[in-house]
Amino acid sequence: MKLAQVLFSQGFGSRRECAARILDGRVTVGGRVCDDPDEDMALEGLVFEVDGRPWPYHAKALLMLNKPAGYECSLKPRHHPSVLSLMPLPLRNRGIQPVGRLDEDTTGLLLLTDDGSLIHRLTSPKHHVPKIYDVVCKHPVDGTQHAALLAGVVLDDDPTPVAAVAVETTGTHSLRLTLMQGRYHQVKRMMAAVGNRVETLHRSGMGPLRLPDDLPVGEWRWLDAGMAWR
Ligand code: URA
Repeated sequence: MKLAQVLFSQGFGSRRECAARILDGRVTVGGRVCDDPDEDMALEGLVFEVDGRPWPYHAKALLMLNKPAGYECSLKPRHHPSVLSLMPLPLRNRGIQPVGRLDEDTTGLLLLTDDGSLIHRLTSPKHHVPKIYDVVCKHPVDGTQHAALLAGVVLDDDPTPVAAVAVETTGTHSLRLTLMQGRYHQVKRMMAAVGNRVETLHRSGMGPLRLPDDLPVGEWRWLDAGMAWR
């Protein structure tokens, strides 16, 4: 692929802007200035630098964000900034979107991608992707609540009970829940249905992925193809 097309595909502006960056000598590959927009690039393992910042080529973008509280997953946020404001402009230009939603006050693992079919596969109820939530509750968690979460509770918008596939008591006031569904405010409503209340909610896992300990709050990283459901 020609270098100008590489930059364009990775979200670095219009074709004209990409060519101009290259002609200005702002693009390097392995430290070598590449100032010919028509230079052919092998895509496999390609890492180029724009103004010194390394950028690995990805045909599709798949990223993991350690979501802070105080950010909305909506593309048109109403009360708080969007999680997209935490992502660099080339990724936003590519049209990345959150995979499903976390509430504004929920923290932890959020995937973002520009791959529409992947979003569908990860969010469709048919595909059964487990989500792990660490919950801190207002009231102590007892055996009755634990059992009810596993047996299934009825939420206010649907008579079919929803159950956690796993419940682990992690403290007097805390639980780890694994859910297969992704219904609106599901954890908060399940905890309310058993007579408790969520104080803090953190997603620590999704499918085979776990939020790495070394990914600081508000930071993101690339996920390689194959790591998640490709
Ligand atoms: N359940 C909730 O209640 N909120 C979230 O953000 C995610 C799951």
